[in-house]
Amino acid sequence: MTQKTLVTSALPYANGSIHLGHLVEYIQTDIYVRFLRSCGESVIYMCADDTHGTPIELNARRQGIDPNDFISRIYDEHRRDFDAFGISFDYFGSTNSEENRRYSERIFKKLLERGHIEKRAVELTFCEKDRRFLPDRFVRGICPKCQASDQYGDVCEKCGSTYAPTELVEPRCSICGTPAVRRASDHYFFRLAHFTDFLKTWSEGEGTLDAAILNNLKSGWLGTGLADWCISRDGPYFGFKIPGEDDKFFYVWLDAPIGYISATERYLANQRQTEGNGEHALDYWGEHSDARIVHFIGKDIINFHALFWPAVLKGAGLRLPSKLAVHGMLTVNGEKMSKSRGTFINARQYLDLFDPAYLRFFYAANLGSSPEDIDLSLNEFRLKVNAELVNNLGNLCNRSLAMLKGKLDGQVGESRDASLLAEAALAVRKAREAFAGLDTRHAVRAIVELGEKANKFVQDKKPWETAKSDPDVARRDLSTVADVLCVIGALLSPVVPSIAEALFAQLGTRPYSFRDLEDFVRAPGPLLKAGHQVGTPAPLIGRIEASVVDSLIAAPKTEAPKSDVAVAGTEKAAPAKNAQTRTAAKTAAAPREDAPKAEVTFDDFCKLDLRVGRILSAARVPKADKLLCLSVDVGEEAPRTIAAGIAEAFANPEILVGKKVAVLANLPPRKIRGIVSCGMILAAGDPQNGLSLLEVSEAIAPGTRIG
Ligand code: 2FM
Ligand code: ZN
Repeated sequence: MTQKTLVTSALPYANGSIHLGHLVEYIQTDIYVRFLRSCGESVIYMCADDTHGTPIELNARRQGIDPNDFISRIYDEHRRDFDAFGISFDYFGSTNSEENRRYSERIFKKLLERGHIEKRAVELTFCEKDRRFLPDRFVRGICPKCQASDQYGDVCEKCGSTYAPTELVEPRCSICGTPAVRRASDHYFFRLAHFTDFLKTWSEGEGTLDAAILNNLKSGWLGTGLADWCISRDGPYFGFKIPGEDDKFFYVWLDAPIGYISATERYLANQRQTEGNGEHALDYWGEHSDARIVHFIGKDIINFHALFWPAVLKGAGLRLPSKLAVHGMLTVNGEKMSKSRGTFINARQYLDLFDPAYLRFFYAANLGSSPEDIDLSLNEFRLKVNAELVNNLGNLCNRSLAMLKGKLDGQVGESRDASLLAEAALAVRKAREAFAGLDTRHAVRAIVELGEKANKFVQDKKPWETAKSDPDVARRDLSTVADVLCVIGALLSPVVPSIAEALFAQLGTRPYSFRDLEDFVRAPGPLLKAGHQVGTPAPLIGRIEASVVDSLIAAPKTEAPKSDVAVAGTEKAAPAKNAQTRTAAKTAAAPREDAPKAEVTFDDFCKLDLRVGRILSAARVPKADKLLCLSVDVGEEAPRTIAAGIAEAFANPEILVGKKVAVLANLPPRKIRGIVSCGMILAAGDPQNGLSLLEVSEAIAPGTRIG
């Protein structure tokens, strides 16, 4: 029996849209899976939404909806976008499922029984106003090492030191801005150090990790010593309650990868029902299974997958991953994706303008097996797709099938040109090896080169002339090209399945797979039978126009504010490098001039990024009588803190909570009385003579553009 392979992509967070950065991984994984299927291998592709954690709980609360409804909306959106890009999961589930709860509890219990988990008291930062413990990303203060202000609770962006949130000087809650206090709480710790020797051996296994990644691990945590890992969180938290505890939950990073197992479980249960196939998740994940488990991940989550996850699996007596396929990060036009430059492009924005096949082709043509970053230079994108996919492969198909159909009744002949078929067989070998080694760049190279050779063949043989002088020769040459197109269709099918499908339809044949080509590779010969009728030729895919590419950047369609801000990030995300470039406040009650101001151009007005904001909390600032510290939802991942000089106008600031107001969202940063304020609330009047905030009707969502 052939070895089974289980392939996964990292589970996307259920707190935001899929964007072009995510798609690098899903497209890369999908190409690999489609290739294995095409070779006739037994492979299943599992994924799920990653649904738990503080950011999701807070986002749902901010929108006034239950987290279950929040994640279910995101689930539908993710499914729709993945489908549109042709990502062929065998199952796409959710970590918020009963199977995942069961597996998480089971694994936790096993680790506890085996002495790999310890419970002990720790001191944490706590917000008395929000009545919650504050994870790293939800507390800000002065760096204990370099005294830089406004740093997250885990790492200083100025000096790079890492520390515990309790070490921050003058810590403040990022949700409401009030000073945080320390409070003790009992927590569960996974004793990662128990697995040091095991991890050293496992990570050095043949083919498990890229050499550069392995070196980084060795010079990082694996070399310097593995610390205990806290796997519990206090409520309020959206996640699975820990059995036997009142208000403690599994940390999202514990149950997220277990989602790989529970997705497998659900998929196989469905299969058992519909197809009577009797497999269970442990046939893949059980200690004695011989399945190959391949995780595709980005290089930002290596520690979780190369240290925590294999240690958890080992400790729980489960099967270990055979390979971590690690990719680099996406840049657009050479820079990190950025909302202000319009290069933070969501899947949906792309789909409004382009065929998904273009992006699949471009990513495939640029991805290798090592974790280098990949750049989506939009000019390069257009030129490459137009030259290789449209002009080379598309034209080969169109011109040769049109000639065969128009001049020779569309009928394939008996004889072939042996040398071109030999080139095609060589291309299959090269592409097969490259796809298997995740080197899609070279696979695409082999396909494009075959297209070039076939185009040159047509050019040299001039079938448009021989069709008149010697139709048998023309039929031989065009039949050879038709066979080459069958090969190209098979080779392209993992990369651009929709184009391969259209190509086979035009050839009037069933799809060819890598498996179907095994004999051809050994002994190149005719693929289409003599007398076969080709279908109706038509352009395979249109060109990308420069103006359309420009509009992808010039007219971003997301409602994201025009800033590079990643506000009060996600608990699991990497530190927001640009957090300090946030927009700062100017208070609404700053002195105003009554005289009319000089004219501005319409373009000047357009530079203002005005947004609807919903006030989530409003608190007085100690020793600053005029100031209110507001937490305002402007439709981003997390609310902004805005300091506004309107305190004198509101004896009871609480009445502001829930109001929808106009916010100027793209001012440069400004620190006011120790608060980094990120925007300006628009108001009319002044506190002494009457002040009114510019309110917006309830029906308009936070983040909506004003103008
Ligand atoms: O980094 C992320 O986007 C995580 N949601 C990936 C989780 S992968 C797995 F561990 F679940
Ligand atoms: Zn708070």
